[in-house]
Amino acid sequence: MILVCGGAGYIGSHMAKRLRKEGVEHVIFDNLERGNAPAVCDSRFEQGDLRNPADIERVFEKYDIHLVMHFAAYIEVGESVKEPAKFWENNVTAVSNLLEVCRKRGVNQFVFSSTAAVYGEPVEVPIPETHPKNPTNPYGDTKLTVERMLASYDRAYGLRSVCLRYFNACGSDPEGELGEDHRPETHLIPRILLAAAGKAPEITVFGTDYDTHDGTCIRDYVHVCDLADAHLRAVRYLENGGGSDQFNLGSGNGFSVRQVLDAVRNVTEIDFPVSYGDRREGDPARLVADSSKAREVLGWSPEFDDVEVCVRHAWDWMVKHPAGYD
Ligand SMILES: NC(=O)c1ccc[n+]([C@@H]2O[C@H](COP(=O)([O-])OP(=O)(O)OC[C@H]3O[C@@H](n4cnc5c(N)ncnc54)[C@H](O)[C@@H]3O)[C@@H](O)[C@H]2O)c1
Repeated sequence: MILVCGGAGYIGSHMAKRLRKEGVEHVIFDNLERGNAPAVCDSRFEQGDLRNPADIERVFEKYDIHLVMHFAAYIEVGESVKEPAKFWENNVTAVSNLLEVCRKRGVNQFVFSSTAAVYGEPVEVPIPETHPKNPTNPYGDTKLTVERMLASYDRAYGLRSVCLRYFNACGSDPEGELGEDHRPETHLIPRILLAAAGKAPEITVFGTDYDTHDGTCIRDYVHVCDLADAHLRAVRYLENGGGSDQFNLGSGNGFSVRQVLDAVRNVTEIDFPVSYGDRREGDPARLVADSSKAREVLGWSPEFDDVEVCVRHAWDWMVKHPAGYD
């Protein structure tokens, strides 16, 4: 049985849907603080908080867990700068609680949601896994800390882990059952879509003087279903005895903010107000993944590597669910 921590959230719920499709036994554990109960669908569900070790013990007592997937974290970079204590508690101490229960119960396989934020300002693009790790915000610090914690648990206790460093997760379930519903929403594609839907007055582009072909930031957008596919491959890899490792997950294609705006105009056929602001501190010009290691070792190959397809899936969900999961 796989424990999916944070499975009521955006990426975790898409993962659970894939597990349901594959007939893989799993149970979702989530406190629903930032997740959505309807996104659990008909997966098994246990409500609890990773900051409370007794909640974790209860689930391990009830189910025969052999592998943990950990999606549960606070994810917003700006919030991590303003309120780092919350991030250290939820993104690190809570994981330590979880790892301690794993250690005591002999659960020695772990898939961790890491991030491109562990690299910081890139010195080389596309970014390989060997790139220096210099996070520029507390969110990235917490994720890198957990990666290090996992490495030490392997050395000392033989707990094998795969850390998946996602670039910009986007898109949604092509069948329209699941979507992205963060509140507040900070990710570019859903924010533009909210402006297109008339639910936000405008979309602001931060910085038009970057050293890129059109002056706006370039990011690597990876479809949430491709992330789920990579996780399933990581599960198989660990179940087949694979050793601890880290993998970048990105499409390998960079799209500028202006290109994403065009993709939204093409998909929605709506022209929406755009304003232009100054650069935001800590936003690198270009973040694109070198994902060749995930392709070679896990056999992963993203199916949806065109940002317009990601936008279409996200838009279809938004049109079908105008109030999100409410
Ligand atoms: N969304 C992205 O673009 C992106 C990029 C890189 C990495 N990641 C990582 O992927 C993971 C999932 O991201 P997401 O966008 O799905 O986030 P999300 O906020 O939608 O989902 C996180 C889920 O975890 C739950 N949760 C949080 N703290 C918990 C706790 N203490 N106990 C129990 N449940 C808890 C929340 O209620 C929520 O359902 C995170 O670890 C994030 O850091 C996301």
